[in-house]
Amino acid sequence: MSDLCAPVFAANWKMCHGPAETGAFMERFVARYPPCDDATVVVFPPAISLPAFAVAAADRPDLQFGVQDVHTEVAGAHTGAISAAMVPATGATWGLAGHSERRREFGDKDADVALKLRRLLEAGLRPVLCVGETIEEREAGQLATVIERQIHGALSSIGAAGRTRLVYAYEPVWAIGTGRTASPEDAAEGHAIVREQLAAAGAGDSARAVILYGGSVKPANIGQLLAAPGVDGVLVGGASLDPDSWAAICAAGR
Ligand code: PGA
Repeated sequence: MSDLCAPVFAANWKMCHGPAETGAFMERFVARYPPCDDATVVVFPPAISLPAFAVAAADRPDLQFGVQDVHTEVAGAHTGAISAAMVPATGATWGLAGHSERRREFGDKDADVALKLRRLLEAGLRPVLCVGETIEEREAGQLATVIERQIHGALSSIGAAGRTRLVYAYEPVWAIGTGRTASPEDAAEGHAIVREQLAAAGAGDSARAVILYGGSVKPANIGQLLAAPGVDGVLVGGASLDPDSWAAICAAGR
């Protein structure tokens, strides 16, 4: 199986589930989610839990995993940071870049996101570029402008070959962790804008780009979101922390 087959179910655990909880989660999840050839499941645990995830998924090569963030530099005096070059040794094959929490809490700018994408690609990882507007930007009618800026800024240092490796996530910031899910129409509109901007940025065949929706996805709304035009999968935070809820979401790909 290729490492990328839509629909893609991606779990962003953020700063939840240390190594012990990761083992316990996986014990329950693998029992509830048998291997499936028609979907991709990828989990982004905290970096400290990557080895525990690798051990727990040793018999399940269908379950992929990745790192939530990497530094813009390859190595050096950057206390507390992780280099993309260190990640492949853990068995992880994916990496997030541009998540709104990184932008808001850690000040990641589009230029930083561009460098992080480059580092992830150099390390042979598959990046997920996250974009999305705040509620203020949306209400000011800036949805398309924000996505244009984020996509063009992030892709500025990526060559044509690298661009074809990227996966994208449209995550309206107002829907993240708020319980306020975008309607299928909102999701379809956001995805269409991402696709338009990928075409404008010359990011390969934009019709084939894999674009995930993120923001308060849960078992109760996964069906309608996956059915929305242009939605190739989901990036899930809160509802991916419980193994039963996560298995229910991934079951939508069967
Ligand atoms: P949420 O988070 O599912 O808790 O809204 C999504 C994300 O931040 O990727």
